[in-house]
Amino acid sequence: MAKTRFEHRCQECGATTARWEGRCPTCGAWNSLVEQVVESTRSSVAPEESRAVALGGVDPSLGNARATGIVEFDRTLSGGLVPGSVTLVGGEPGIGKSTLLLQIASSLSRARRRVVICSAEESAEQISRRAFRLGVDTEAITLCTTASLPEVLRVVAEMRPDLLVIDSIQTFADPEIAGSAGSVSQVRECAAQLVAFAKRSGVATVLIGHVTKEGSLAGPRLLEHLVDTVCSFEGDRHHALRILSVMKHRFGASGELGVFEMTADGLKGVADPSALFLADRQTGVAGSIVVPILEGHRALLVEVQTLVTPTVFGTPRRAGEGIASGRLALILAVLEQRVGLLAGALDVFASVVGGVHIQEPGADLALGLALASSVTAVPIDPLTVACGEVGLAGEVRQVVHTERRLQEAARRGFRRAIVPMTCPRAPEGMELIRVATLLEAVERLGLAVADRPFELG
Ligand code: TYD
Ligand code: MG
Repeated sequence: MAKTRFEHRCQECGATTARWEGRCPTCGAWNSLVEQVVESTRSSVAPEESRAVALGGVDPSLGNARATGIVEFDRTLSGGLVPGSVTLVGGEPGIGKSTLLLQIASSLSRARRRVVICSAEESAEQISRRAFRLGVDTEAITLCTTASLPEVLRVVAEMRPDLLVIDSIQTFADPEIAGSAGSVSQVRECAAQLVAFAKRSGVATVLIGHVTKEGSLAGPRLLEHLVDTVCSFEGDRHHALRILSVMKHRFGASGELGVFEMTADGLKGVADPSALFLADRQTGVAGSIVVPILEGHRALLVEVQTLVTPTVFGTPRRAGEGIASGRLALILAVLEQRVGLLAGALDVFASVVGGVHIQEPGADLALGLALASSVTAVPIDPLTVACGEVGLAGEVRQVVHTERRLQEAARRGFRRAIVPMTCPRAPEGMELIRVATLLEAVERLGLAVADRPFELG
């Protein structure tokens, strides 16, 4: 019999302290420590017998991924789900996690592979209504609407499905463990039991996890090292675009990416995302340029738009949508100091079309050129793209995989690219304009500061 002991566990990071404190000494969160009784946590996971084997005697093909038939999902996971693996799919509420897994289940069911979906979030009626609407093949899908982990384990041990979906890990609880569903101890222990079960039984398991606006999942760090694969399903709720990316993957490359569109008939894979982003583009308008960005290993073409207007009240506004405000401020400062383009009396708005968030410096040059185009009201040739990082000295630097980015631009019919001096060869049919500085790029595009329409400075 394990001896009962007390501890204070941080509900943010899972760290424990012997005494209560107002602030977690590990992650610094305030008021996050909750007193809990700890029974011996080990007792919950069945002990496994020692399994020492010769490495050469293990059949490596047992770890092969099996395609789910959802092309974008399989691409992200380097081929599909590996039997016995555990995959965490995190994302904000309402982003489409349950829909994605239901569609994966449907695809497997169509191939006569059995799936158990355990949902403590939605009722059987809700799920069945959605499944009906999406035309899901329900033949081989078993639904288990319970919040009890032991019940889940009993069902899957009996059924031995090809895929087990847990929707979501924060809503399941084991009555043997202290804390309510969603608490760090429950999330961790339930996940640990599911991982142990998956390894023992060879059932591929997907855990859905809710992520808050701040990007943290209850106990995310705890889960990340427990599972084999960590995926994040993201997107802007006001746009249809959804991106599935993989942050950790024990069975293939991480950094892969799947692109989906949320439609009235569920998620649809987007084979050519650039076409989606450029669909409604208006050409001939000042302040816009297309940039080939890198998402995972794929190059995507997105349009960067900017707009400037004279400031009416005191402090000028600077607002970026899909662009980090720090990056926008930096590029404006470089434009002012190194290019001589003053935006001090202008409100500046910058946005990336389609709900994409640019998180890499490869779009700096495009942003600088779009801003120069806005200020001077001179449109940039619509068949030109720009790609490069801008440094504080105004220099234009090379970014990773420039060749792949330019190939994507050439494929979509772009004819010219503004690139750093050190840029590799141009793809066929594309002219490269090599520039050393942002000033040079501005001049080469004819965005002469003298032509500016606003009284600046
Ligand atoms: P859902 O999969 O329930 O999200 P999550 O499990 O991540 O919380 O999807 C919820 C949203 O998706 C919901 O707001 C409506 C939208 N949606 C569609 O637009 N089309 C559809 O076919 C479905 C099923 C959902
Ligand atoms: Mg859901």
